[in-house]
Amino acid sequence: MSKIRDLTAKLKDLEPQRSKLELRRTDCERPTRLEERLQPTSLEIENHVYGRDKDKQTILDLLRKSDDERNFVIPIVGMGGIGKTTLAQLVYNDASIQPHFDLKAWACISDDFYVLRITKEILQSVTSKPCNDNDLNKVQEKLQKELSGKKFLIILDDVWNENYYD
Ligand SMILES: Nc1ncnc2c1ncn2[C@@H]1O[C@H](COP(=O)(O)OP(=O)(O)OP(=O)(O)O)[C@@H](O)[C@H]1O
Ligand SMILES: [Mg+2]
Repeated sequence: MSKIRDLTAKLKDLEPQRSKLELRRTDCERPTRLEERLQPTSLEIENHVYGRDKDKQTILDLLRKSDDERNFVIPIVGMGGIGKTTLAQLVYNDASIQPHFDLKAWACISDDFYVLRITKEILQSVTSKPCNDNDLNKVQEKLQKELSGKKFLIILDDVWNENYYD
């Protein structure tokens, strides 16, 4: 308690100096280009995940319940760094959902929303084979063939695009 009081006093002391030093508030920026930051993958890198048991269970229950739905979307939304990717990794790798899906795929979307790249990424994740096609129609046809008649789980991580039609 005394430490918090000290800290609060210190901050109160610093606050008026902000204008004197002409410090301005700016929005925190993060590198948006995929190459400039580490691309999150489906592999768990965090060994000690705390406080997410309930969230994980909720999503697992939804996925298990989704058995009779045709299309089922579960959004994980929150500020940067709050643990969205980590939660998705926990679910994706959980043994209990594996029997519910014929196949799984993980795709990192990021800011560069190129449909061809994303479709290829999903296809490659599904087939575990490289895809060198650069024709969207061809890639879509291949993906359709892979997914047709199957029950699948696709994680789209790092989605920033808010364009509904995309
Ligand atoms: N519940 C948790 N317990 C411990 N560490 C965690 C937890 N959730 C996330 N982390 C750690 O915090 C960091 C950020 O998590 P993560 O990448 O999942 O956030 P994010 O919401 O996906 O971020 P971004 O919006 O930038 O994609 C990672 O290093 C991750 O290992
Ligand atoms: Mg993330």
